[in-house]
Amino acid sequence: DWTMAGFRQAEIAKIRAQVGTGKVICGLSGGVDSSVAAALIHEAIGDQLTCIFVDHGLLRGGEAEEVVRVFGEQFNIRLIHRDASDLFLGQLAGVTDPEQKRKIIGRLFIEVFDEEATKLGGADFLAQGTLYPDVIESVSALGGPSVTIKSHHNVGGLPEFMKLKLVEPLRELFKDEVRELGRELGLPENIVGRHPFPGPGLAIRILGAVNRPSVEILQKADAIYLEEIRAAGLYDAIWQAFAVLLPVKSVGVMGDGRTYDQVCALRAVTSTDGMTADIYPFDMGFLSRVSNRIVNEVRGINRVTYDITSKPPGTIEWE
Ligand code: XMP
Repeated sequence: DWTMAGFRQAEIAKIRAQVGTGKVICGLSGGVDSSVAAALIHEAIGDQLTCIFVDHGLLRGGEAEEVVRVFGEQFNIRLIHRDASDLFLGQLAGVTDPEQKRKIIGRLFIEVFDEEATKLGGADFLAQGTLYPDVIESVSALGGPSVTIKSHHNVGGLPEFMKLKLVEPLRELFKDEVRELGRELGLPENIVGRHPFPGPGLAIRILGAVNRPSVEILQKADAIYLEEIRAAGLYDAIWQAFAVLLPVKSVGVMGDGRTYDQVCALRAVTSTDGMTADIYPFDMGFLSRVSNRIVNEVRGINRVTYDITSKPPGTIEWE
């Protein structure tokens, strides 16, 4: 009989056979797929694995710290945490076009990853959390929510790490199976059950130009929204939920004063693969509670809207 415990043992044997005494590098994003791949490969080959976490500064609040805590401290995985937020935010300054933002982030990601891999003295293998749907190309044209480094093509010749042989232990699994394997490996529920998160991160949820203050505003609003979703017991019923910061100001009133601040849109969808999606039908009481909290607790936002567009015709992300 096929069991996850059996799969785990069989994959560990396969990884050992493939890698031998070689060195493996793995890009860690904080998402489910790369996390599970890293934990499994670490179990197979220990310190022959080094994870490289390119922190673009566009993750949700607290997630970078969590990656370091879980992988570096709890799992004792060799981990390079490169805080590259100044570089990413610097290059993104003033850029408003969504595809341009993606290109800049993809290019910098590869540059920084390659730099760190070179500092390590190279490697023999590149590990990726590629899933079965990525293999059959049914997720998104951009490689889906996971960090699939190879999907970004680089015109100036391939960086060294892209020539490496691939270790892809999750190639036969679907998302729900990856989550089950993650639990089997002892990864925290907070990582294993996490909603998909796009590679470019909050840069495509801050419409228009991105800067550090907007990242901080959006992180706060998003944290409140997700906290309320978890408290209401709705997190696992939703495919993705997130806040979006709009480059639009509107007038409001607070206490005795008039405010003129930004608008925040809330998005929550159900889906099985991200290809199509329906909006999550929150009750109004829930939405108004979240709205009150965001407007009262987050300086810079004075109005909240709920996105009621399904996919198609809308996309899940706003950019
Ligand atoms: P859309 O917005 O196209 O998103 O309906 C479908 C799924 O893909 C994710 N997404 C991305 N993931 N890089 C990624 O790694 C991207 O540039 C990107 N754009 C969208 C999105 O979060 C959803 O899960």
